[in-house]
Formats: sequence, structure tokens, C-alpha cells
Amino acid sequence: MERSIEVNRERCVHCGLCVGDCGAKCLAFDEEKFPTLITGGGRGCMGCQHCMAICPAGAISVGGVDPDGLPAAVCADPDELLGMIRSRRSVRAYKEEDVSAEKLEKIREMLHYPPTGGNLDNLHFTIIGTREKMDGLRRATYGGLSTVTEDSPLFGMKDFLEESWSAGRDIIYAGAPAMIMAAVSETMFAPNCDIVDPIIALSYFELFASSLGLGTLWDDCAYMAAKAIPEVCDMLRIPEGYRPAFALVFGEPETRYRRAAQKDAHSITML
Ligand SMILES: Cc1cc2nc3c(=O)[nH]c(=O)nc-3n(C[C@H](O)[C@H](O)[C@H](O)COP(=O)(O)O)c2cc1C
Repeated sequence: MERSIEVNRERCVHCGLCVGDCGAKCLAFDEEKFPTLITGGGRGCMGCQHCMAICPAGAISVGGVDPDGLPAAVCADPDELLGMIRSRRSVRAYKEEDVSAEKLEKIREMLHYPPTGGNLDNLHFTIIGTREKMDGLRRATYGGLSTVTEDSPLFGMKDFLEESWSAGRDIIYAGAPAMIMAAVSETMFAPNCDIVDPIIALSYFELFASSLGLGTLWDDCAYMAAKAIPEVCDMLRIPEGYRPAFALVFGEPETRYRRAAQKDAHSITML
């Protein structure tokens, strides 16, 4: 996001909400009580657009974005959302069909919105969107298992995975027609956020995918394969300077769960 703001002086009502809500504290009133970026034209601005979002008059534009063109902020029904969270399950059986182009497009749109530390554009997503391409990945993965070395956690599972594959079972990708691999920049990240940012994005993806009727599976095996087998990693076309962070496979589910989950309780301390 370009770090420049424009203030429509005819619309500004001088309420100061933008100045008060600026997360980077880089907005202040000028002598005429219009918001302006403090010294150096954007020093510290994260491009988060809070000023644009909070303005009751639509007087602020960040990076040339038209505030009137943005959708109104909405809130989901909490019971419905909790129901979705409880109903989400790991899906390990998928229909043959590919995920539709419309659903893939919606997923692509969604992926830009999960938060990142410092509001950085530090993530890359590879989406394998067809069964044909997934089959290529499956062949490269199972073909490459023999080259996996002892330093990979996949090493101890090699025989089991190979035997299952020979028997027609794809344990690694659960026979899914699609996969998303999140990767994170090795140089552009706020402290600790290289671990957290990709997982936040994938968690949003998981819930959004279930709203589209898709099944998903957090896939440690796929992640391990990408790290242990260079050919698999190459096929994912992760840009230079990024490293794989985690993967989910997804697709139209073959299974349908009729009841939501009743999970064992985590311990929670209420203070
Ligand atoms: C980080 C993570 C990695 C996982 N990796 C795998 C995997 O490689 N293969 C698999 O079959 N399931 C995997 N799972 C699915 C878990 O086994 C599953 O979440 C758990 O059994 C509970 O089932 P549920 O997700 O349907 O509630 C993974 C789950 C998480 C959260």
C-alpha cells in the first residue's frame, strides 16, 4: 500500500478521529486543523488505512483509494460464526471435480485481508487449483520420497507413505484437487510475525473456504514434503527470498458431517 494520504478539505469536519486512531501516531492536525502526515511525508505510516476507514465524512484517501468506493464495514452473526467454527472438520475425502474458478477467485480476493504484523505485504501464496496439477505434485512427491534424508520428520514415515501410495492411497495430500501453500518473506517481517502472519492468513482461508462449502485439511505432510524434496518446492514456484510456512489442501468434500464437534476443553485462565 502506497503511504500517501489526501484530505478532501471540503469534506473534512475536523473531528480528529483519524488523528486519534492512527496506529503509527504519524497523523496530526496542521495549523488549519486538517490531518496531515508528520514530517517526512509518511514517516512511520503503515498504510493501514484506519484514518480512511474511521472518517465519518469520507474525507481521507490513502494511496489514491476512493473512500466512497469501499464497502461498508460489516459484522458477522456470532452464533452463526461459532456454529461454523464448531462445524469445521479436517476433510480427507474429496470429490474428483476441481474447485470452480469462481470459488478460487473469491479465495484470491480474501487472501489480501488477513492482518500482518506492521501491515507488511510479506506473504506469498501458491494455489494449485486443478486436480491435474495436483496429480503432478503427487507424482513428484511420492517419486521423491526415496531422497528424503534423516533430518526431515518425513524420513520416519517414508515406508508407510510409499506403501500407502502403492496401494492407491494418497496420505500426503488426502487425494485433494487443490492446495494452498503460504510462504513468508525472509527479510520483510516484524519480530516474530514471520511465524504468525502466514498462519493467521491460512486460518482465515480455512474458515472462508468452509463458507464456500469447501473441505480443507491442515497438511503438515505437504509442508514437510515441500521442505524435504527440492523438486516439490520448485513446483510451488515460491519466489526467491521467501520460505514455505504451511499448507492446506482443499476441495469439494466427499464427506458431509451432520453434527458439530464437541472438543476436549483447552485450559483457559480468566483473570
Ligand atoms: C497444524 C496442523 C497440521 C495437521 N497436519 C495434518 C496432516 O499432515 N495430515 C492429516 O491427516 N491431518 C493433519 N491435521 C489434522 C488434525 O489431525 C485434525 O485437526 C485433528 O485430528 C482434529 O480433527 P478436526 O480437524 O476434524 O477437528 C493437522 C492439523 C493441524 C492443526
